[in-house]
Amino acid sequence: MSDRDRYVIRGGRPLHGQVTVSGSKNAALYALAAALLTPDTVKLRNVPRIADIEEMAAVLRALGAEVTIEGETVILRAATFTTTVAPAALVAKLRASFLVVGALLARAGEATCVSPGGDVIGSRPLDVHFTGFRALGADVSEHDGQHVVRASRLRGARIFFDYPSVLGTVNVLFAAVRAEGRTTIINAAAEPEVEMVAEMLVRMGARITGHGSAIIEVDGVDRLGGVDFTVIPDRLEAGTYLLAGAATGGDVHVTNARPEHMDSLIAKLREVGVEVDTAGGIQAHCPGPLRATQVQAVPYPGFPTDLQAPMTAALLRAAGTSTVHERVYERRFDYVQQLHLLGAKIEVGANGIATIHGGEPLNGAAVRALDIRAGAAVVVAGLAATGETVVGGVGHLDRGYADLESRLRSLGADITRRVG
Ligand code: EPU
Repeated sequence: MSDRDRYVIRGGRPLHGQVTVSGSKNAALYALAAALLTPDTVKLRNVPRIADIEEMAAVLRALGAEVTIEGETVILRAATFTTTVAPAALVAKLRASFLVVGALLARAGEATCVSPGGDVIGSRPLDVHFTGFRALGADVSEHDGQHVVRASRLRGARIFFDYPSVLGTVNVLFAAVRAEGRTTIINAAAEPEVEMVAEMLVRMGARITGHGSAIIEVDGVDRLGGVDFTVIPDRLEAGTYLLAGAATGGDVHVTNARPEHMDSLIAKLREVGVEVDTAGGIQAHCPGPLRATQVQAVPYPGFPTDLQAPMTAALLRAAGTSTVHERVYERRFDYVQQLHLLGAKIEVGANGIATIHGGEPLNGAAVRALDIRAGAAVVVAGLAATGETVVGGVGHLDRGYADLESRLRSLGADITRRVG
């Protein structure tokens, strides 16, 4: 796999059929990091076979953990650490790598880590993480561009987050499970991936309640043990296939999608005229043309920012004017210039609102995947467009979508990968 790889899509065919999605990328990344919290063996199942998992495994190995990846199963053991300094070059590639800070703080009492890299989608501060660590009694400082977090002893606290940061919640949760006494996190992230990793920690011996809501309570314990745990299906991957189906006027059934994680998308699909059946997974059938709508991308349970780009692409097929308001990341409309190359009529205002004039013809063109979800948008638009679309930067899609081209082909898409 290489970033030079391209997808060649011959669009205009409605997608039809069944597809099974992988385990959640983000939930699996948090689960890998959570394995640092115990010296015992952790076995994770249903881990997606994507580049980000390999990168996270490399980060954990650099700290001294043993990590074995066998297909969709990952076995980890962090008996001891060889260092508490996270490998800067690897951390720069992957935002979730910053979770080693909370885990190292809990287990080793200190962590040193640079600011993590990740997609260029807007400012990505770390103040929520540091507010939480400080409230638990840690000292946070910066030396030579590295964040140094230390605590001889962590003590439970009542912590208010200015923003329900996803990674911030997980990082502080990792530290809180080993702190003395009770921690209450107010305005915590409620995403299903956060809820899942908290559930995994409970299975390892942690005492946590309220996960999956905005208030999480943790009673610290002295030790966590090993676990055999299965990662939840990826709601963002599932949403991408459902939106590709909607954009092409097709009928897509994601057999293992969890409807209870996807209320906001299901509601929007129904609003634009898609028939959605949630009896076994999620099936989205388009009986006719799509209708325009309004979407706001906000924290869970609102419409996910990670589906904002493919949703915008699907709304290009809805006659009339739709608006999409991105309220999480101010730069998450950069991909719109790529959609313009296909003939899309979209204006993005300084207020973070995109106005989409849908129902206009889309014609194949050469475009680029700028990040994982921006890549999903150009693929969805390319599938809906007439003629040939060549998508560059496929390496970004490899970071988040396992077997994208074969899964789309199984739904009837004409898509091939051109290597190098
Ligand atoms: N924020 C703060 N302070 C902080 C942290 C975040 O103000 O300390 C703000 C950010 O500026 C941003 C908002 O909070 O406006 C959301 O950031 P959050 O911290 O929730 O995002 P994240 O945890 O860094 C994860 C996912 C993203 C996903 C977001 C939002 C991983 C590895 N990343 O990022 O996923 O978009 O939550 O749901 O889990 C992706 O999968 O493509 C992806 C980018």
